[in-house]
Amino acid sequence: MKIIAAKYIRGTLELPGDKSISHRAAILSAMAQGNTQVQNFATSADCASTLKCLEALGVEINRDDSTVVIKGVGKQGLRKPETALDCGNSGTTMRLLTGVLAGQNFDSVLVGDESLQKRPMKRVIDPLRLMGAEIDAEGNNAPLRIFGKKPLRQIDFELPVASAQIKSCIMLAALNAQGETSVFEPTPTRDHTERMLRWFGVKVSEAVVNGVKKITVSGDANLTAKDLSVPADVSSAAFFIVAAAFLDGSEIILPNVGINPTRSAVIEVLGRLGADISISDRREICNEPVGKLIITGKKSVPNGRGSNLLSGPVIANLIDEIPILAVAGTQVDGGLEIRNASELRIKESDRISAVVENLRKMNASVEEFEDGLRVEKSYLKGATVDSFGDHRIAMAFAVAGLLADGETEILGAECAAISFPGFFDTLADVRK
Ligand code: S3P
Repeated sequence: MKIIAAKYIRGTLELPGDKSISHRAAILSAMAQGNTQVQNFATSADCASTLKCLEALGVEINRDDSTVVIKGVGKQGLRKPETALDCGNSGTTMRLLTGVLAGQNFDSVLVGDESLQKRPMKRVIDPLRLMGAEIDAEGNNAPLRIFGKKPLRQIDFELPVASAQIKSCIMLAALNAQGETSVFEPTPTRDHTERMLRWFGVKVSEAVVNGVKKITVSGDANLTAKDLSVPADVSSAAFFIVAAAFLDGSEIILPNVGINPTRSAVIEVLGRLGADISISDRREICNEPVGKLIITGKKSVPNGRGSNLLSGPVIANLIDEIPILAVAGTQVDGGLEIRNASELRIKESDRISAVVENLRKMNASVEEFEDGLRVEKSYLKGATVDSFGDHRIAMAFAVAGLLADGETEILGAECAAISFPGFFDTLADVRK
């Protein structure tokens, strides 16, 4: 895919539904009693993997583009799949479904693509084993062989890593466990599972114990189907926010974007770095806060307000936006340093080394750390860069290509479809 420098970008974009929320919508609807219609379901390949796995587990699903109707079977109504469940590239599919399948009365196997089979699964296997689950995984990687056990035991578990996937996996398993299960979360992570469980009528209690958030769910809880609408994906919005903010004359309007406070630090951080972003029309849809974002490009984006360092708890809040934030860092006075982000090394690619390598190819001055990177304000030049098979790298460097002088070629750019099919067409539509 070739990208040529843009003058500015303009338009109103109805972005696809949030990927994290769509995975949860599919899984929780399947575990509910009754039918749920989900509107603006993510068009991403990852969420299609979740739907396919649920169908293989006996759930009837009717899909018409971004409207999906899921016939819930109840939390114990899934059927033994005939073949291995293919999670594709999707870590969320694998980790959340492992939690669901651990407490069923049948065995199942979860597989994934080359990238997913390298990603760490011990983080979900360990707490599930504490709950009495039986899971075989060679080297703690997929394929995961799950020997369903009913019921599981309750646990009180403190997350060793700030990960919403681990938290959600345990909460889903807790629905098929005896008693009350609590997850202690020292660093806040996205709370879509908690919000959606409540939407389906499940009591999720929250308390703060010694400064740590404790989230509790009971194995007695049942889910009741209720139609849903998914907000536009803030992680996809981030690419257009950065492109618009740093191209003078741009104006991009993004309605209905998810602005859940556990998830949307990217907006606040870009604002702090000097981007002109306004949020209006704030409301809640299906327990999730949304708003209309308007981004106006400025000729020069001064960073008058201090910190060019992103580190600590905020990292979990913008973990998927770090590649595009690193690109943004090339445009701001003082550059940007990102630390405490070693989780990025075990995403769909090693996102730290991917970003560093590509930014260097584009003439940026970058330093790599084990847990992050530092990028200086740089004059970007078009180059040939690699997606490393990672959707967020492909899209971040498409934006870098708009901001750079000349032409940028992104190898393997088609992987953008993992989260945003049509990304390049949308970019072409707004590019002037
Ligand atoms: C996700 C959580 C994050 C994120 C991933 C989606 C989720 O992973 O990087 O893209 O939907 O729960 P971790 O929670 O493992 O950091």
